[in-house]
Amino acid sequence: MITPEDIERLIRPELTAMKAYTPIEPTDVLSQRIDIPREKVIKLDGNENPYGCSIRVKQAMANYAYYHLYPDPEQRELKKALEKYSGISSKYILAGSGSDELIDLILRLFVEPGDRVIDCSPTFGMYPFSTDVCGGKVVSIPRKQDFSIDVAAIKKTIDKQVKVIFIASPNNPSGNITPEQTILELLNSSMVVVIDEAYFEFSGVTVAPMVLKYPNLVVLRTFSKWAGLAGLRVGYGIFPLNMVKYLMKIKQPYNVNAAAQVAALESLKDISYLSGTIKAIIDERERLFTRLSQLDWLKVYPSQANFVLCSVLNGKAKTIHKGLQKKGIFVRYFDTPQLKNCLRISVGKPEHTDALIASLREIC
Ligand SMILES: Cc1ncc(COP(=O)(O)O)c(C=O)c1O
Repeated sequence: MITPEDIERLIRPELTAMKAYTPIEPTDVLSQRIDIPREKVIKLDGNENPYGCSIRVKQAMANYAYYHLYPDPEQRELKKALEKYSGISSKYILAGSGSDELIDLILRLFVEPGDRVIDCSPTFGMYPFSTDVCGGKVVSIPRKQDFSIDVAAIKKTIDKQVKVIFIASPNNPSGNITPEQTILELLNSSMVVVIDEAYFEFSGVTVAPMVLKYPNLVVLRTFSKWAGLAGLRVGYGIFPLNMVKYLMKIKQPYNVNAAAQVAALESLKDISYLSGTIKAIIDERERLFTRLSQLDWLKVYPSQANFVLCSVLNGKAKTIHKGLQKKGIFVRYFDTPQLKNCLRISVGKPEHTDALIASLREIC
């Protein structure tokens, strides 16, 4: 009889050795762990939207009558609405089950075992994760001290086996953008340059119109952050036309589910409400930055996203992370060579900032 060990041997060896992605945990799990009611948890660890989605989204989802039918595999209505929102013709647009799915699809399109993919660390963990799943190898080019990308080092690394480079702009977790001039320098190469604009609505900076000019440029966006739809998983990409053709071919036919399509469409119809919550988050980011900067044992990095990165200069980030947890406040803790003793704090509502600052003052 076949044994579990036989099955292990059938698994692709690069996957048995692969490091798993560390996702954030849901609120109910956190609340049970620390024995605090769910509504009291202050969740500042996932760069989610503290205001949630538009109320119109909930109504539209409740009223939708066709959940028993498969959604449009060509995402026609959603693409048309995205054309209006982004100002880019719908023929360049493809939606995914979160931008995570689009990262995966891009890699599946280009990366064969042995190929290489560049990311600029510290950055979003899905780039190495999805590269590993495809059997590719990530080459992480460290960002400079100010978290700007090191173009000279990237250029030295480029060879025929480097297929794709990922640059998050604003970058997660550092919050800084990569200027257009720097991106232009990279476009002058044979690799696919993916600019991940997951936090675009908080920075207002985009290179999306350049996709029409550069056959190797891709821009990714998401509804998870500005529209508060992280739980429904909707993202989209702006791609050169030939890439759209192949991505359409390899994607799961019904990759964006009906509920997610309804929610995304209704969000795009309620921009005036969502613009208000985006503005509230940007204003609160600035207040959070100021309040954190008043703590002389923290170095706070300026951010154009919906989170701020802090380096703990005096004391242990791990102890602070744990201390905050005990008070029901969850932030992200990092301790890697490039992010030593660091915390990333998502922007919440004003009362969340106040509770956080009060707790930080008590803990330290
Ligand atoms: C840079 C970046 N890209 C993509 C994502 C994932 O977006 P989505 O929820 O659309 O998969 C995140 C989420 O944190 C992110 O930080």
